[in-house]
Amino acid sequence: MASATGKSFDIALIKRLLKYTRPYRPTFKLTIFLTVILAVLGPIRPILISYTVDHFIIIPKVRELTIFCLILVGLLGVETIIQYYQSYYSGFLGQKVVKDLRQQLYVHISRFKLKYYDRTPIGTLVTRVVNDIETIAEIFSEGLLSILGDLLKLVFVLIAMFAVSWQLSIACLLPVPFLLIATNRFRHGIGKSFKEVRNEVANMNAFTQERITGMHMIQAFNREEIELEKFKEINKKHRNAHIRSVWYYSVFFPIVEILSALSISLMVFWASRDMIVNAFSTATPGMIIEFILFIYMMYRPMRQLADRFNTLQMGVVSSERIFKIIDADESLEDKGTKTANAIKGNIVFDQVDFSYVDNEPVLTEFNLNIREGEKIAVVGATGSGKTTVANLISRMYEVSNGHIYIDGIEIRDFSLSELQKSIGIVLQDVFLFSDSVVNNITLKNDKISYEQVVEASKAVGAHEFIMQLPGGYEYQIGERGTQLSVGQRQLLSFIRAYVYNPKILILDEATSSIDTESEFLIQKATEKITEGRTSIMIAHRLSTIKKADKILVMEKGKIIETGTHAELVDKNGVYKKLFELQFSRDGS
Ligand SMILES: Nc1ncnc2c1ncn2[C@@H]1O[C@H](COP(=O)(O)OP(=O)(O)O)[C@@H](O)[C@H]1O
Ligand SMILES: [Mg+2]
Repeated sequence: MASATGKSFDIALIKRLLKYTRPYRPTFKLTIFLTVILAVLGPIRPILISYTVDHFIIIPKVRELTIFCLILVGLLGVETIIQYYQSYYSGFLGQKVVKDLRQQLYVHISRFKLKYYDRTPIGTLVTRVVNDIETIAEIFSEGLLSILGDLLKLVFVLIAMFAVSWQLSIACLLPVPFLLIATNRFRHGIGKSFKEVRNEVANMNAFTQERITGMHMIQAFNREEIELEKFKEINKKHRNAHIRSVWYYSVFFPIVEILSALSISLMVFWASRDMIVNAFSTATPGMIIEFILFIYMMYRPMRQLADRFNTLQMGVVSSERIFKIIDADESLEDKGTKTANAIKGNIVFDQVDFSYVDNEPVLTEFNLNIREGEKIAVVGATGSGKTTVANLISRMYEVSNGHIYIDGIEIRDFSLSELQKSIGIVLQDVFLFSDSVVNNITLKNDKISYEQVVEASKAVGAHEFIMQLPGGYEYQIGERGTQLSVGQRQLLSFIRAYVYNPKILILDEATSSIDTESEFLIQKATEKITEGRTSIMIAHRLSTIKKADKILVMEKGKIIETGTHAELVDKNGVYKKLFELQFSRDGS
């Protein structure tokens, strides 16, 4: 990261960010205009005060004094109002830009293929979408425009100072080299510790996200203590990084105070001495007050610039990360044009190779032929590749080599949405959103009516159980469906697949044992839902396996046996062993 050292500001990156202000061009221009006006108005007040002191106080003139005081109050009023609008609009602009950027990022990552999510910690992505984007907002509210404002203020104050008296100006500027040194040190130090803070925030998000998701595991295995220790460690690093940044501030600010006091002393000393010893002195008492104000006006932007460059820099780092995600093309290729309306459901795997991780093949030269309407049961040990086969048919993952055809058409030639519409999937882990039962079934597809949902539930045999929930179909399921049993969740996902009426059904049965009642319901539901469609059932239940037209036995990514239950038992091979191991206790 180029900006980590604080050396470079990526102009191209800033330009790219500024592009996002395009829809808000008038606001952007107005904000810049207000920023310039503010900088110009700044030095006018000290000049007026100086004039007032020298001309209406030292030589007392009450009427003029009153008028000038009123003008000063008026000027201050105008400045305040402009300052208000300037801050408001720059903040406004930042939030608008960030809203657009966040939305773009969200839409973008929601198209990413699953492979991307396999290798990116969710917590990190959350940090990108939430925290990093917020830092970019600050580029607008506290970064760019304020830097411009500060620089302009500084320029105008210096011009005014030298115009009034170059001697006094030089006296004021003598301590400035020390300020520059201090500022530079500060900027580096604080930049580094801010970066640490942000890294720790990302770490903490990733950690917390993962542990909370897996909390039942942590508790079940009594890992609370160990996990707490890890959390404490991250928390400590986070605190230390923060404290370091606080330390830099608490050293830097007093240094600036001391240096500005030094400037004032030098200037006052020089001016007074000049007035006393030099008969032709141009210095006046008004000028002393004027320069005291100038000094404050000069130091404030210099002090703030250090801070603002950091804000800018952090914003730049954040935008680098965000743009990296936005530029990453991790979406599934969706160039297919074939519609899937008339799909019958013939599936062919032709010499398919696949690996999740490079050089760790899961399937090699895998072949499979399923005729329309066939009910296939896939069995095999955990990790033998059953779920993978299912993932590939619906293009959740892309084959590395070989082809998958549906009705003779390569699946890549279907448009992705068409393909996915014709394949219903009931996954091993049923994912439920924290929403009502009915919304979890329709997934908010408004083409599916409430009546259809009820009808489907009745067909699948889940209507009774849903009606027993408080609120029935409107029952609010907690996040990830934690209040429902495994069997109940599975039933909901059956209805989900059923209402979409897909031509091909993939059913990844949950391995975990479920109660007899759910077992019975699911058995019935399975029969109902597989009726009249090509069904691939990754089966753990004997009832499912026995009813299948064909059983595929998988081992290490290969099909090693094929046949009906009776045929395979007769064959006395792997299936027979598997069958005896898995189902002997069922007594059937
Ligand atoms: N998302 C993934 N990333 C990396 N490897 C995976 C992923 N999913 C599965 N695998 C690996 O692929 C192999 C097959 O897994 P899978 O198809 O889930 O088996 P099964 O469903 O038969 O239990 C296993 O070795 C597993 O570790
Ligand atoms: Mg599996």
